[in-house]
Amino acid sequence: KVVAVIMVGGPTKGTRFRPLSFNTPKPLIPLAGQPMIHHPISACKKIPNLAQIFLIGFYEEREFALYVSSISNELKIPVRYLKEDKPHGSAGALYYFRDRIMEEKPSHVFLLNCDVCCSFPLQDILDAHRGYGGVGTMLVIKVSAEAASQFGELIADPDTKELLHYTEKPETFVSDLINCGVYVFTSDIFKAIEGVYSQMRDTSSNYQISSFDHFRSATRSVPADFVRLDQDILSPLAGKKQLYTYENKDFWEQIKTPEKSLKCSELYLSQFRETSPHLLASGDGTNKKPMIVGDVYIHPSVKLHPTAKIGPNVSISANVRVGPGVRLISCIILDDVEIKENAVVINSIIGWKSSIGRWSRVQASGDDNERLGITILGEAVTVEDEVTVIGSIVLQNKTLNVSVQDDIIL
Ligand code: GDD
Repeated sequence: KVVAVIMVGGPTKGTRFRPLSFNTPKPLIPLAGQPMIHHPISACKKIPNLAQIFLIGFYEEREFALYVSSISNELKIPVRYLKEDKPHGSAGALYYFRDRIMEEKPSHVFLLNCDVCCSFPLQDILDAHRGYGGVGTMLVIKVSAEAASQFGELIADPDTKELLHYTEKPETFVSDLINCGVYVFTSDIFKAIEGVYSQMRDTSSNYQISSFDHFRSATRSVPADFVRLDQDILSPLAGKKQLYTYENKDFWEQIKTPEKSLKCSELYLSQFRETSPHLLASGDGTNKKPMIVGDVYIHPSVKLHPTAKIGPNVSISANVRVGPGVRLISCIILDDVEIKENAVVINSIIGWKSSIGRWSRVQASGDDNERLGITILGEAVTVEDEVTVIGSIVLQNKTLNVSVQDDIIL
């Protein structure tokens, strides 16, 4: 038996996702028409002998209640939300719920960050881990040397794949091989975290007398019951034949900004071509169906005028109405939006219940092929007729009756 844990964070995280994350937890914001965490959850569902999926976070329970009950019914696997009373760090949160996680005595625990986009080759990681032994195996990928510094950089033995050295977001370059935020562990991970806790307890009780310990607690600068998986567990365990790496051969992106969510929506839509082609829309402008270009997801409840032209990389959520002559390219349209006739939306995210007027244009600044400076409309924004919104972020409940460019509308 195995279980999976997805770390979802809480309201103090995901701030770069504003204004979209004001009313909706970041892990529930749709990519390719499904909540962000739906993608790792579907990947977990494919693991044989998966007993349960736990989401651990410090959001209020009610924020996840609806999603958790509907996804449990849909996948026929128990998905439970476990709420921390406060943030304990990525390893501390796992440890906090160790009894719940180990209830059914699983042989292995998968641990996934909620904000990564990949094909989650979980069975391959588990198979590799069984070959290596040790406490855990992590998914890693090579990125450009410039990009690497935003992630955990690591060195692995080219033959044995053992993790030899690990540094979280280093200031000077260590390696272009990085941590993807997807792991499998045996129950010994809890002993490793326990070890860090007892070290921390010793340090704080000796606090007054030892200048070395004083130095240690000063450099940690985080609460004493806060344990991070990367700095506090992976770094010290590296080079001890406890941790191993499995190199990702498919796509991988981190989802920290709305710009990234457009990119990730595109990656998941193209993955649907292989995994769930029934989710992709089709149409060539005849038989009362609009013209669809490339990979497009359209919720079955959407009302689309047959003269609209949609795609590539468009996902349209429930109850959206799209009028005659509308053109949509590379965008995410959230629930209950209305897009009126001849409006154009390119490289943008349109928040729930927003309305875009006739002959209006909502787009990113600069080249259509670059997603820099995408436009994001928060919840219930009204763009009036014939208004142009370029490269701007518009907070919820605003009405725009004049055109704006490269602006933030508060
Ligand atoms: N429940 C809970 N409680 N979740 C948390 C907490 C906490 O106190 N702190 C972080 N998380 C969750 C976040 O929501 C995210 O899913 C995951 O844990 C990691 O978040 P961070 O610790 O903020 O790290 P990061 O996302 O900047 O970087 C990590 O992931 C990268 C891959 O995306 C690191 O492990 C990097 O090394 C790695 O490259």
